[in-house]
Amino acid sequence: MLDSYGRKINYLRVSVTDNCNLNCKYCRPYTISNKKNNNITLEEICTIVKGFVKTGVDKVRITGGEPLVRNDILTIVEKIHEIDGIKDLAMTTNGLLLSKYAKDLKSAGLNRVNISLDTLDSKKYFEITKGGSLKMVLKGIEAAKKAGLSPIKLNVVLMKNFNEEDIIRFINLTKYEDIDVRFIELMPIGTLKDWSLSKYLNNHIVFKKVPNLIEVAPLDISSPAKYYSLPSAKGRIGLINPISCKFCSNCNRIRLTADGKLKPCLHSNTEFDIRKLILAGKNIDDFIQDIIINKSKEHYLEDGRYIYRQMSEIGG
Ligand code: 5AD
Repeated sequence: MLDSYGRKINYLRVSVTDNCNLNCKYCRPYTISNKKNNNITLEEICTIVKGFVKTGVDKVRITGGEPLVRNDILTIVEKIHEIDGIKDLAMTTNGLLLSKYAKDLKSAGLNRVNISLDTLDSKKYFEITKGGSLKMVLKGIEAAKKAGLSPIKLNVVLMKNFNEEDIIRFINLTKYEDIDVRFIELMPIGTLKDWSLSKYLNNHIVFKKVPNLIEVAPLDISSPAKYYSLPSAKGRIGLINPISCKFCSNCNRIRLTADGKLKPCLHSNTEFDIRKLILAGKNIDDFIQDIIINKSKEHYLEDGRYIYRQMSEIGG
């Protein structure tokens, strides 16, 4: 359905867990540990997705934390895939467990994956993720390709004095591989906001490093990325500039947090507890419609001007 600004809201992002097998510096602070969990259940997820499908949502992305650390992840994919009306089912993952899961995810009905990967240097990868293995991620990407989870998109968060040298390496990947690389500006989020502000890098650096990028038409106008490519490259380069530029007028999404709150805007601290309604046995249809109708026009951060929650609870 349309919100009150005429935007068609057809995309639900579901964070299925705030647990993760990495602790990326900008995403999960040291103080978070993997807990037993208060994550939304498979049944709650299905109830909420079905509720959104009634309003016209046809695209779902499963995120985390790291979705593949959930034991029932294949069932979650399978059950969402079975819901009538879902046309596109995608996942954002760090890729570490993809070599194990890619084939089964595809069979369960997943269409495609976005993989978070900020550097192609294994030492730097270990450093930024606090312990991750680049080799495992690269194996995961290969497995995703082999399983036909496509298109594959790599999400690269740019950080000052960290991965500037990786820009060219990532862009070169697109020459021969049908992979989209998307550079994302670092957003100040949760308790990591100060660190993130100090490492912020404007996405314009991509054009400084590679001036011969050509703008290409977007495949999906609601995508937050603007797309470019190298002449005759197979893959594309996306720039996502949440800080230096807003894309609210095309926003088509609502987020569900791992603890069952709906977030109509990533850049607002406003949330609505849909899980509470479900637990009370109430009907959620009107609640969902109200949230869509009242979705704010654009980024608006109340006091403090930063997002309180950790990204690992929201899922990007
Ligand atoms: N700023 C920008 N991007 C972020 N992501 C996680 N935290 C941040 C942040 N603070 C990215 C992840 C993932 C995507 C969903 O969001 O790298 O790929």
